[in-house]
Amino acid sequence: MTDEELKDKRRILFVCLGNICRSPAAEGVMKSILEEEGAEGFVVDSAGTGRYHIGQLPDSRMRVHARRRGLELDHHCRQVTVADFDDFDMIIGMDDSNIANLRAIAPSPEAEHKIVAMSRFFDKSARFDHVPDPYYEGAEGFELVLDLLQEGCRNLFNAVVCR
Ligand code: 4NP
Repeated sequence: MTDEELKDKRRILFVCLGNICRSPAAEGVMKSILEEEGAEGFVVDSAGTGRYHIGQLPDSRMRVHARRRGLELDHHCRQVTVADFDDFDMIIGMDDSNIANLRAIAPSPEAEHKIVAMSRFFDKSARFDHVPDPYYEGAEGFELVLDLLQEGCRNLFNAVVCR
């Protein structure tokens, strides 16, 4: 998706594997930025390509680390569906594997065009080209995810509101 095409994209879905660590955190970070900015007319949600944790709240470690930054994560895990490609303007994958899985279920070339990597919104100086899965990591893994998402979602916000 070109920079021009990003403008005015208001329905945003974040996707990771489990939908209990990275994507619900991205959803929480993005919603907090929208609230802080008083931005209206957005739909923000998250989903997982896997189905291991359906119905569950985010991982307790992610909730603890997010809460320290003033974010309450209350999303309940769900699996991404083909209908999401109609319901959202942009589907943001956290890593290459998420993006490959999304491409595999995209129902049309137009739908596939909605898939974007979260790393597209990292600062140019970022040391990462994806959001690393923190599930088998320690506290620093969760902090890194939140650092990357806070930077990336701020840039995403600026891209969609044309700043
Ligand atoms: P997420 O992390 O994709 O950021 O939600 C994971 C959560 C659970 C599993 C893997 C990754 N799992 O294998 O259960």
